[in-house]
Amino acid sequence: MKKEKQPPFIILNDVRKSFSEYEILKGINLEVADNEFLILIGESGSGKSTLLSLLGGQDFANSGDVVVGETRLDSNIPNSDLLHYRTKITGFVYQDFNLIPTLTLKENITLPAEISGTDYNPRRLDSLIEKFGLVEHQNKFPENLSGGEMQRTAIARSILLRPRLILADEPTGNLDSKNSQIVMKIFKDLHDEGHTIILVTHSKKIAKSGSKIVEIVNGKLKKK
Ligand SMILES: Nc1ncnc2c1ncn2[C@@H]1O[C@H](COP(=O)(O)OP(=O)(O)OP(=O)(O)O)[C@@H](O)[C@H]1O
Ligand SMILES: [Mg+2]
Repeated sequence: MKKEKQPPFIILNDVRKSFSEYEILKGINLEVADNEFLILIGESGSGKSTLLSLLGGQDFANSGDVVVGETRLDSNIPNSDLLHYRTKITGFVYQDFNLIPTLTLKENITLPAEISGTDYNPRRLDSLIEKFGLVEHQNKFPENLSGGEMQRTAIARSILLRPRLILADEPTGNLDSKNSQIVMKIFKDLHDEGHTIILVTHSKKIAKSGSKIVEIVNGKLKKK
């Protein structure tokens, strides 16, 4: 039987983004299938973080279409839809972890759910803490964690509510090679579990983990 072609999960159509007079993204076109593991590369300043921020609903394009699943991300989106999108549909992982220093590891993981008033499964919380090797650290504050532990905490935070899309901006940029390997194994497992992942990296080795690589060159995307 012929398999029916699924519509793309993410569609970017002629996406443009400027900061004052500088146009950074100059007509980005991209389709991402469900459960793709897309690697985004490009020179420093080429607009990788800018593009991720548009996909994460943290900023909006000046023109063009940004559509993720059912959600069209533009400045007309109602606040409640944007909050739902940012807490339940996407999880974001940053190079510098972005943990709150005054909260314990466990409190950091549940913070987005608490802020958005979303119920989470306490058994899932405990199983993530265990799976990521954080049981003995769960009541520690970030300053007492290693970089690898902080990043595993940040990944647990991003996936507690099972978002369909995980956006990761140089998640191994501040880690040594052993911790980079551990973190990339976590992303591979999340991909195997069915998540769609878009990951920015400067590392050729890490770029090989993905199912597809695209590069931003002069504000446009080039397939590798
Ligand atoms: N909020 C902002 N206001 C003004 N300019 C910005 C803003 N955000 C990004 N830029 C500019 O847009 C360009 C692209 O920045 P971006 O952070 O997306 O690059 P990048 O590809 O992620 O670089 P890196 O690899 O160094 O992280 C840079 O020239 C940056 O200075
Ligand atoms: Mg960046």
